[in-house]
Amino acid sequence: MRFTDGFLEELRAKNDIETVVSSYVQLKPSGRLLSGLCPFHGEKTPSFYVYPETQSYYCFGCGAGGDVITFVRTAENLSYVDAVRLLANRAGLAMPEDQADDGTANLRKRCYSANREAAKFFHQMLQSDVGKSGFQYFHSRGVTPATIRHFGLGFAPDDWNCLTKHLRSLGFRDDELVQFNLSRKSKNGRVYDAFRNRVMFPIIDLQGNVVAFGGRVLDDSKPKYLNTSDTVVYKKSRGVFALNFAKNNSTKELILCEGYMDVIALHQAGFTNAVAGLGTALTEEQALLLSRYASQINICYDADEAGRKAAEKAVRIFSRTNVKIKVLRLTGGKDPDEIIKNSGVEKMRSILSGAMNDTEFRLSQAKEHLDLQVADDRLSYANEAVKILATLSNPIERDLYASKIANESGVSKSAVLSQIDRARHYQQKKQDQTRFALIEKQMNAFSKNDFYPPGTPIRVRNAEEHLLASLYRNPDFLTSSCKELSANDFSSQTNRTIFQRLTKIIEQGKNPSIHAFNDCLTPDEMGHLSKILTLSEKLGNNQKECQDCVAAIQEAKKAVAPQAIGKLSDDDFLKLFTKK
Ligand code: CTP
Ligand code: MN
Repeated sequence: MRFTDGFLEELRAKNDIETVVSSYVQLKPSGRLLSGLCPFHGEKTPSFYVYPETQSYYCFGCGAGGDVITFVRTAENLSYVDAVRLLANRAGLAMPEDQADDGTANLRKRCYSANREAAKFFHQMLQSDVGKSGFQYFHSRGVTPATIRHFGLGFAPDDWNCLTKHLRSLGFRDDELVQFNLSRKSKNGRVYDAFRNRVMFPIIDLQGNVVAFGGRVLDDSKPKYLNTSDTVVYKKSRGVFALNFAKNNSTKELILCEGYMDVIALHQAGFTNAVAGLGTALTEEQALLLSRYASQINICYDADEAGRKAAEKAVRIFSRTNVKIKVLRLTGGKDPDEIIKNSGVEKMRSILSGAMNDTEFRLSQAKEHLDLQVADDRLSYANEAVKILATLSNPIERDLYASKIANESGVSKSAVLSQIDRARHYQQKKQDQTRFALIEKQMNAFSKNDFYPPGTPIRVRNAEEHLLASLYRNPDFLTSSCKELSANDFSSQTNRTIFQRLTKIIEQGKNPSIHAFNDCLTPDEMGHLSKILTLSEKLGNNQKECQDCVAAIQEAKKAVAPQAIGKLSDDDFLKLFTKK
C-alpha cells in the first residue's frame, strides 16, 4: 500500500462520502441510503445510491461503484494518487508526497507545471514591448487591463521558439513539451512553438490548474482559433471555458455561449456566470458537467444559422439531464460580445430576462421560414407544432400551447389537441422500441465488463458474491466456515483478489472496509465490489448461508471445465464419463 493506513483513515474521516458526492449529485434520502441521478451516465430517474454505512456508492444503471476515492477518480478522471491528493487538499491534509507516485501522476504534475509556466510567460509577453500588438488587439475589442489580469490572458510572440527556449531553461525536456502540445516537432526534428503571433486564452480546470490554451490570430487569417488538443491533463470534449469562475456564482444559472470573447465580454459586464464550450459542438460530457453546477442553463449561441442549429442540438442533449433550458434570442448583434459593445449591458440584461423556454424556442424555429398569412404555411406550421407539443409530458402545458397554435394557425384547438394525442401515441411506441434497444445495449455493455470467465453459471456467481458479502459483514465466519476454501476455488480473478485481500484484513484482526481494496482493484472492479456490498441488504447473516455458498463454490470447482477435458488421461476421462 502506497499510503499509510493512518493517513488514509484520516483522509476518509475528513471526506465523508455523502458530503463529497453531494457536491456533484443532488442526493435525496431513500431509507438508510441516499439516491440521486448518476453522474456517470445520462439518466432521468435515479439509479445511483450512496451507502453511508459502508461509505460506498453503486449505480444500478451503469455499474459504477466504489468508495470516495474511486468516486473522485472517476468523476474528475484522475489517477489514484491524484484523487487522494484532491481529497487531501479538500480536507486540508498535508500530502505525504514521498509515499505517492505512480508514473502518470508525475507526468501530469509536469504537464500542469509546464502549462502554468507557459501561461505566466504569455501573460508577461502581453504586458511587454513584444506583446504590444496583442495588447492593442485586446484594447480594440474593449477588454480592460483588469479583465486581462482576471483571465490571465496572454500573447504568444511572432517567434518560432521563444516559449520552447523559455521552458527548456526551466528544465523541461523537448519530448515533454511536444507531448503537452506546447511545442511541435518538424519532420527534420526541430522543435518549435505551437502557438505563434496569437493572443492567448488559458483554460483553467476546476482545481485552478492551467490545462490548455486557445489562441486567436490578430487579423482575419486562418485558422482563427487554435486550441490545445488532448493531453494527459486535458480532454477537449470535457473542457468548458471559465467554469472555474462561473461555478462560484450563487444563482445556480449558467449562460452558455459559443466563444472565448463572448464569455470575457459577459464577465466584464458583470455576468460572471458565463461559460463556453471549446470549439466543438456541445458534447454529452460537457452537458453532464454543466448540469452539476446549474439548475438552469441559458443558451446564448450566435444569431446565425450555425448558432441556431447548435442551440437545437444543445437543447436535445440537455433534455437528457434534468436542468432547465432556456434559449436566448439575440438581437442587436450577432453574439453577446457584439451586443454588449453595440447596444450596452442593459440590452444584454433584457435579452437574458426575456429568454424563451425550450418549447417556445422550438416553436419559433418551426415558423422561422414560414409566412403565416399563407394557408399552406399555416398548415405546415400546425403539423410541425403538433410534433413539438407531443413531446411535452405536462397536459396543462400541452393545452396552453395548443391554444396558442390554434390562434396562430387558424386550426381549431380540438383538432390540434387530437393530433397531439395521435402523435403522442406514435412517439410512445417509438420510445418503447428505443428503450428495448437501450436495455439490450446495457446488457451487452455489462457482459463486456463481466468479471467472470465465459459460461460461468449464475448459481456460481451468486454463491461467490454472497459469500464475499457475507464475510465482509461477518468476519468471524472466515475461521468458522471457510477453512476448506482457497482463493483458487473462485471462478474469477477479481473475486480471487477480493477474497485474498479480505482474508488478509480479517487475519490482521481489522474490520473490512471498501477503502482497503483501492490499491488492488481497478475502478471498474471497485464497481463490482460495490455491487457485492449492496447484497448485504439481502443477507441472512448466518453461518448456514455462508456454508451453503462455500459448498456451492467447491462443487462447481470439482466439475471439470470442458476445455480441460482434452488434457485428462484416458483413465480419468473414463471415470468422469461414467460418473456423468
Ligand atoms: N472556434 C475554434 N476554432 C475556429 C473557430 C472557432 O475553436 N477555427 C471556437 C472558439 O472557441 C470560438 C468559438 O468557436 O471562440 C466561436 O467561433 P466564432 O463565432 O467564429 O468566433 P468568436 O468567438 O465570435 O470570435 P471573435 O469574436 O474573436 O471573432
Ligand atoms: Mn465574436
